[in-house]
Amino acid sequence: MTTTLYGPVFRADPHAVYRTMREEAPVHRVELAGGVEAWLITRYDDAKAALTDPRLVKGVLHPPNRMGIPADVHSAITHHMLSADPPDHTRLRRLVSATFTPRRIDALRPRITELTGELLDAMHGLGEADLIETFAFPLPIAVISELLGVPVEDRDSFRDWSNLVTSPGERRAESPRAVLALHGYVQELIARKRKAPGDDLLSGMLAVRDDGDRLTEDELASTVFLLLIAGHETTVNLIANGAYRLLETRERWVELRARRELLPSAIEEFLRFDSPVQTSTHRVSTAPLTIGGVDVPAGATVLISLLSANMDGARYPDPEHLRLSRTGTPHLAFGHGIHYCLGAPLARLEAQIAFTGLLDRFPELRMAFSPAELTWRPGALIHGLEALPVSGLAP
Ligand code: HEM
Repeated sequence: MTTTLYGPVFRADPHAVYRTMREEAPVHRVELAGGVEAWLITRYDDAKAALTDPRLVKGVLHPPNRMGIPADVHSAITHHMLSADPPDHTRLRRLVSATFTPRRIDALRPRITELTGELLDAMHGLGEADLIETFAFPLPIAVISELLGVPVEDRDSFRDWSNLVTSPGERRAESPRAVLALHGYVQELIARKRKAPGDDLLSGMLAVRDDGDRLTEDELASTVFLLLIAGHETTVNLIANGAYRLLETRERWVELRARRELLPSAIEEFLRFDSPVQTSTHRVSTAPLTIGGVDVPAGATVLISLLSANMDGARYPDPEHLRLSRTGTPHLAFGHGIHYCLGAPLARLEAQIAFTGLLDRFPELRMAFSPAELTWRPGALIHGLEALPVSGLAP
């Protein structure tokens, strides 16, 4: 028996589906979009162990060219650390980390605050709006443009292509065209930065040399794509899922407004409770494995459900109770082991500024729909709402 992660039951309440799976067995056969079968790990201890198991690797997969884009373009978007194993992974991560430093991220704080302010200004007086469309979606793209050094005059096209590449649902059909356009733009941007470097991450990546080693053209372009997608789809949903949980039980909103010191732990709790990356990216078993007593053959596609692991009652007391001040076992929302999220400090910073802005500017913010109308996006990778209509956007 396989379980699907995109039907109406799942979309109405993914937590309920995972709760049942977690109680039934530590590993499940699931069917992914396109009919691909995978083994899904649902419990915390197994998940954490799998994320550091050297027998679960990425590279055997060589991501298939499902979009049917030209081979050279496909190569220029897939040669990044998240699809690599050691020693390639170690090398790629080291080269990128040399310039994606805590200092560079912290230096973004004033610009993120400014960008947040501009978006909130534009929302003033709207009365009602979709918080995802007006705020949670545009903010991370603006931040990544800033980080990479996309010139202001190119921001609109860059944002449009990026939105198409990262957007959910039907618009995905336009993705191949957008990937080609974005790929062309990234090549051009790299050429420009090479001639006239700036103080941005992309110029930094061009300059990085490590014992004579450097990023190749494909690795550079692929890393830009990875940062764009890994840094966007995810942060959107941290902001939107967190805002939803604050408004769903409005006492939480009121409490956080009054007790701002709870914001850091509240953000960790949003990450645990509604992990934006609900499952890890694919791994493949290089040998037969036993996970939680279940035999998994060699050559199997294995996914780790971070969302399910983070709700495991064996690790979290009263896991389905969202507590803004929760401490204890750290969540797995940013993964674990060698692929641990490189952008975690940036995501936390963005969330901190975004929630502060919302709480300050819109004290009367409320959900403008009934929870029965709520739909989660389909699919195994991203956990986020389709829309989040809110009211209370008066000046
Ligand atoms: C990897 C989650 C934001 C860049 C990962 C992984 C997870 C994750 C779970 C590991 C996937 C796996 O092992 O299969 C998140 C969440 C975010 C977020 C929940 C926001 C709330 C960001 C941002 C950036 C970023 C803002 C950068 C701009 C990366 C990169 C990797 C990664 C480069 C690959 C690391 C490697 O393979 O060594 N992220 N991420 N992420 N993330 Fe994030």
